[in-house]
Formats: sequence, structure tokens, C-alpha cells
Amino acid sequence: MKVLVTGGAGYVGSIVTEELLKGGHQVIVLDNLRQGHKGAVLPEVELLLADICHVQALEDVFRRFKIDAVMHMAAETVVEYSVTDPKRYFQNNVIGGINLLNTMLKHDVFKVIFSSSAAVYGEPENTPIGEDHPKAPVNSYGESKLMFERILSWYGKAYGVQHVSLRYFNAAGASGHLGEDHCPETHLIPNVLKAALNSDNLVSIFGTDYPTKDGTCIRDYIHVVDIARAHVLALAKLESLTNNVYNLGNGEGYSVLDVLETAKKVTGVDIPAINSSRRPGDPAVLVASSVRARSELGWKPEFAKLESIIESAWKWMREHPNGYEE
Ligand code: UFG
Repeated sequence: MKVLVTGGAGYVGSIVTEELLKGGHQVIVLDNLRQGHKGAVLPEVELLLADICHVQALEDVFRRFKIDAVMHMAAETVVEYSVTDPKRYFQNNVIGGINLLNTMLKHDVFKVIFSSSAAVYGEPENTPIGEDHPKAPVNSYGESKLMFERILSWYGKAYGVQHVSLRYFNAAGASGHLGEDHCPETHLIPNVLKAALNSDNLVSIFGTDYPTKDGTCIRDYIHVVDIARAHVLALAKLESLTNNVYNLGNGEGYSVLDVLETAKKVTGVDIPAINSSRRPGDPAVLVASSVRARSELGWKPEFAKLESIIESAWKWMREHPNGYEE
């Protein structure tokens, strides 16, 4: 299939692109390069510098290429900023998404895999979190992802858009030459590894008074390559799936301190850290039940151990201490 990957120069999008190519698909990447990197787009892939908020730019893309399916990853993603600046999140993640869907309809493109998030659940009432768990986002990032999931379901009913939303828990790790490079970096694992690489970078532990085993937040870390493979499976099975939403996680929770300890073992560095106050918008515990993705998509995470996730991220960081060059 000819697949348009929006946000394909970003962390998850670039690795989804790589897995699509391995699966024999043709890929076109659309990215505004605000967060993405040219260097994350594989040389055999055409990069279109465009923004989903610009309807005419989308129109030009769909007119130029006969696209069969879309993987929609372009989004504002930093949870923390979504608390203080929600307008950016609704503008890009909702309005930009609607622009994309309307352009797809105009050009008879009816297949879309959407990059959603565990942030749609908010503070869980029970764990592990299944897809039917109540949705009560505690930040505008999660709200914007949930809104777009709902929009997809209306477009599905009314216009026959075939859609799957994949709710990622905490994406981490790297694939050979593609890895995580955000500016500024807000995610735990890269920040911990930056501190291992250079002791001038101290890790801040955001909150030590959560109702968890050691007072720090618990998350379900999932290897980015496993996430990418779930996209390829979802696309292959899109027509026969009975559900539209799937959680992607390993079902095991690790605290911030667990991550720090594992990273110390992997790197052999006594990583410096300080306790700091809570970060706004952070739920205490997010752990997935991915039973549905396993049974219906046939998804089986290959790199489930936290140690192997951190090892791959560490290898990439040592090879790219300053991230991508462009
Ligand atoms: N944390 C620190 N220090 C840091 C960075 C993070 O203590 O320097 C803590 C956070 O407070 C949080 C945990 O580590 O408790 C994980 O934080 P990340 O920023 O790595 O990831 P988040 O859980 O905030 O967010 C990620 C994705 C979101 C997604 C969410 C759902 O970035 O897109 O997972 O689980 F919504």
C-alpha cells in the first residue's frame, strides 16, 4: 500500500515508517519539522514539508499522490505544556486532524491508523487499564486525543472511514539508527540517559509523594519498535477488526526510581538525581492491559523487558550524543 505517515519525521513516526517499509509498503512522510528531524526520515522516503493545519498543503499532497492509507502521528505531544497551553493541542491535534480527515474523504481515502495515548484515561480507577476503562483525561493532550478518537468514530459511521486508534503507554527505546530526540527533552528515559552521558545533567524526580510503592509515578514502558509493529498489523487487519481502539503496553509498571536503578545497571554509571516537586498533569499510575491487541491484532511485544528497552536507548544515545544532526 502507499501510506502517508503524518509526523513521520518524529520519534514514533520514523520507526513506524521503517517498519512499513520492511512490510513492503511505500511510504510518504508529511511533517512540519517543528519537532521532527530530517535525519529521522530514511533516504528512500519522500519527505513533504507541510502542516496538517494548512488545508491547501494537505490538498496538494492528496492530489499529487494516490494514497491508500494514512498513519496519523502528527501532534503536539508534551503532556506538561498541554496543561498550560491547551490551545495548541486543540488546534493541532483536533482541528489539524479534522483537516486531514476531510481531505482524505475528498480524495476517497478511507483507511486511517491513529496514534492515540494512555493519556485518554486520566487517573485510573483500576489497573491494568483495559480499553473500556472510563475516560477522564487530566490534561488537554489526553482530551485532544480522546476528541479525535470520537471524531473518527463518527466519520466511521457516517462516511465509512475504517479507523483504528492505538493508545500508546510510554514509548521508549530505539531501533538501530533511529531514536528519541526531542527539544526540549521531557521524557524520563532519555533524561536519565543524558545524565549518565554527562554528569552536568541532573535527573529531576518529579514527585516522591504519590500513592505508589516508592512514592514516584509508575508507568508501562513499551519499546518503540513493538509500537511500530502494531501499526503494521493494524493496517493489515483493518478491514476485519471488530474493535477500533487498542492499548499498547507491556502490562508491567515501573516507578521512576525503578527506571533510574535499571539505567544505572545498564550504563554502569551512578546517575545523579534530585527529588523535585510533582509535574502538573501526571497521573500516579498508568499500566496497560493489552489483551485485546494481543488477541485481535496478533501483537506480541518482542522487547518487553525494561532493561532491553533502556539498552537500545542507551546504544542510540551514545552513537548520537547530540541527537540528529538535522
Ligand atoms: N519524570 C521525571 N523526571 C523527568 C521526566 C519524567 O521524574 O525528567 C517522570 C514523570 O513525572 C512521569 C514519568 O517520569 O511520572 C514518565 O514521564 P515521561 O515524561 O517520560 O512520560 P509521560 O508518562 O508523562 O508521558 C508519556 C507520553 C505521553 C503519554 C503518556 C501516557 O509522552 O504522550 O506517556 O502514558 F500520554
